[in-house]
Amino acid sequence: MKKNVNHIKIAMDGPAGSGKSTVAQKVAEKLDLLYLDSGAMYRAVTVLAIENGVETAIPELIKLVKNCHIQFSENGKLIFLDSKDISTQIRTPEVNTLVADIAKVPQIRTEIVRHQRRIGTQGGIIAEGRDLTTIVFPDADYKFYLDASVTERAKRRYAELLSQNVDTTLETVEEEIRTRDEKDITREHSPLKAAKDAICVDTTGKTIDEVVEYIISMVSSQNNN
Ligand code: C5P
Repeated sequence: MKKNVNHIKIAMDGPAGSGKSTVAQKVAEKLDLLYLDSGAMYRAVTVLAIENGVETAIPELIKLVKNCHIQFSENGKLIFLDSKDISTQIRTPEVNTLVADIAKVPQIRTEIVRHQRRIGTQGGIIAEGRDLTTIVFPDADYKFYLDASVTERAKRRYAELLSQNVDTTLETVEEEIRTRDEKDITREHSPLKAAKDAICVDTTGKTIDEVVEYIISMVSSQNNN
């Protein structure tokens, strides 16, 4: 049955630097959808771990996760941990290095996935991450898997960091992406993979706007059938 576009659920997965967050934010704006950055939630848990010195004390961290409040504002652009704005803190090199090890813990995933499903209950959402199409919203109306070569993904991330005056090198960024990909793809629980029914989009050599247009055209054409 055709759904009003404001009630649809779009799930999108892909590796770091595949363009998911920028694309999803733009699609959200154009279709007036809620934007859910699921990676930001695992990053928030990583900040929680660092602040409490429990990066490796997983049972303690699980207790903290069960009692913390993670909230978004400005349609996913800002993230708050227990009312504190941690939007900048979640993007530090320390968090980049730690997040995949924290995100692989099944009990942490259970808590975060429950929260994500609550956010998506009403529909009218585009959510992106590593397991949105496979685990969080297997019932999504539209599923996309975005990918690009690791070289291109590293170049994009490097350009983004340079524009934020972050002192790093392309080699460092590429190495960090490769390590994180490896961890996300090979972990036991909810590994990164394309859902069987996801539309795969290779974003190598494509602009953000081209990918956004493609996704909107897929949603519009299927929604009009
Ligand atoms: O999307 P982003 O790069 O911010 O995600 C940071 C990390 O959070 C990923 O490398 C992955 O380890 C974890 N993550 C996850 N499941 C998601 C989203 C992110 O495990 N749905």
